[in-house]
Amino acid sequence: MTASQLKEISSYIDALFSRNVHHVHNRNHLIRVVENARRISMVVKPKQLEPFVLEATCLLHDITHQYYKNGLFNYLFERRLARKALTELLPQFKLNASDKRIIITAIANHPFSIPFRNLHKNGDVYTKILQDADSLDYFHPERVTAVGKKLHLPDRVVTIILRPLSRWARNHIGWFLNYPKLADLVVYDGDR
Ligand SMILES: [Fe+2]
Repeated sequence: MTASQLKEISSYIDALFSRNVHHVHNRNHLIRVVENARRISMVVKPKQLEPFVLEATCLLHDITHQYYKNGLFNYLFERRLARKALTELLPQFKLNASDKRIIITAIANHPFSIPFRNLHKNGDVYTKILQDADSLDYFHPERVTAVGKKLHLPDRVVTIILRPLSRWARNHIGWFLNYPKLADLVVYDGDR
């Protein structure tokens, strides 16, 4: 993948995700997943990893949440919908066949680490890194706030129940990772 192809994907995602900044799967989440993936790859040091392809994979990984209406059907069939959306979307970026296959495989495999532990410990490195980078952001304070808003919960409920619960979950996140030793890789700005 070239730098200009990655830039095109990034611009496309910027425009698509600017519509819904308070969504749990917003642009900030994508940026944090890119950063988590970068940190993971620095520790794991895989022999063959193309950083641009990994970044593009992270930027595109929640495409179904913008491409389709959110709901139970889309949650349950996210893997199939991701393949469909990416098959329609990726040709415009003129990626080679190998990059396309890597991106589609990793994104289609990434759901359900939390709560189902549908992990891919024997999978390819892009799948494992994307899934862990996403799981590490699952209980980020900004997302906890967004969930509270989405469910119309009073601030007190968020503070007294949701935040301590999410802190507890973050401290046990290793259980949901392909690389459990990387559970402490992300610092949550004092909300640990
Ligand atoms: Fe995500």
